[in-house]
Amino acid sequence: MNNPFKVNPAFRTYHVEYAIRDIVEASKEAKKQGKELIYLNIGDPVQYGFKTPESILKAVCEALYKNYNSYSDSVGVPEAVDAIKSYALKKGIKPLDIYVTQGASEAIEFAIAALINPGENILLPCPCYPLYQAIVAKFEIEPRFYFLDEENNWEPDLDNIEALIDKKTKAIAIINPNNPTGAIYSKETLEKILEIAKKYQLVILSDEIYDQFILEENLEHISIASLTDEIPVITFNGLSKNYFAPGFRIGWGIISGPKEMLIDYIEAIHKLSRTRLCAPHPLQFAIPEALNNENGYIKQVIKDLRKRRDLLVDGLNQISHISCVKPLGAFYAFPRIDISDISDLEFTKRLILEEGVVVVHGSGFGQKPGTKHFRIIFLPEEEKLIKALEKIEKFVKKITS
Ligand SMILES: Cc1ncc(COP(=O)(O)O)c(C=O)c1O
Repeated sequence: MNNPFKVNPAFRTYHVEYAIRDIVEASKEAKKQGKELIYLNIGDPVQYGFKTPESILKAVCEALYKNYNSYSDSVGVPEAVDAIKSYALKKGIKPLDIYVTQGASEAIEFAIAALINPGENILLPCPCYPLYQAIVAKFEIEPRFYFLDEENNWEPDLDNIEALIDKKTKAIAIINPNNPTGAIYSKETLEKILEIAKKYQLVILSDEIYDQFILEENLEHISIASLTDEIPVITFNGLSKNYFAPGFRIGWGIISGPKEMLIDYIEAIHKLSRTRLCAPHPLQFAIPEALNNENGYIKQVIKDLRKRRDLLVDGLNQISHISCVKPLGAFYAFPRIDISDISDLEFTKRLILEEGVVVVHGSGFGQKPGTKHFRIIFLPEEEKLIKALEKIEKFVKKITS
């Protein structure tokens, strides 16, 4: 070429990371070496054989054939918005505004982008689902990480939250049920978070994408927005997990709180949603079908998952140097590694290369200094989980003897 030049990516991409990147390389290497891999790293139920319910597929097909293939209203078709409104009301949330997006991911991005300026900060959980770190990196927002307390069923450390707040803090994000810990927050904890938000005039962003994955029989998931009329809350949800349709890319945000406080913010979110025209139009018709009917399928799934969770967590706790808090929701566990002289990334890479068990290292999500973890999912059948446990035990014995 006569005039070669290098295309340099923008600085904003430098800090965008995704935890699974490092382990993908290790998995490729293990595969090349002929290792049979057990994938316990993917948070996608469909990849483990769970299926999008038939009635939802039919609703989408019907929409396609009715030629609902134009752009739609930027914040969602009325049928979808109405169904989300009813779902919110059933959960005790009084929605002021609803916007339908390309997955909950986009709803989270709009909520953050419309609220926080470069140089201002947001409180994020540690460990955290890595999307949040990626979004704040993109918008040059400072993340301040509050610890989730392993000694207290992974509930947020409230003193830590308060200590991190300053004049530039705009919001607190919570993930409930949590990825990667599987924790479900108590009403007390949620009320205390609301008190802090009130004291410092913060917006709460509540990611509830796993709100139907409740693995304890007498436990109810509480939406933080249902506990307040005074505090602005954006609640995120979608079809990816509860309705086994991550590929649809359908999610939403529900804005609640005092109208007079939120008018400009709502318009800012609408402005952002107009720039990308709309969420996939025919796929939005899955929303009324999903939300206006009982989710029968998940009930059976939960029964299976409960067994799988118990098997995995009991098995992990029987392995020396490994301990695991029992997840109450979602389909993740975040076991702790008490082995010196090996980082969690090294542990994970070697577990993949030597035993073929693919999990994600805890540092990819963030963890309290001095602690080491890995994230493991319990979506696969019991047989696979038993095999994985045997391999993890063998590996731990090998590196500790
Ligand atoms: C906590 C959390 N929020 C959001 C998402 C992304 O959801 P969506 O597929 O609706 O974009 C995920 C996906 O794994 C998640 O775990």
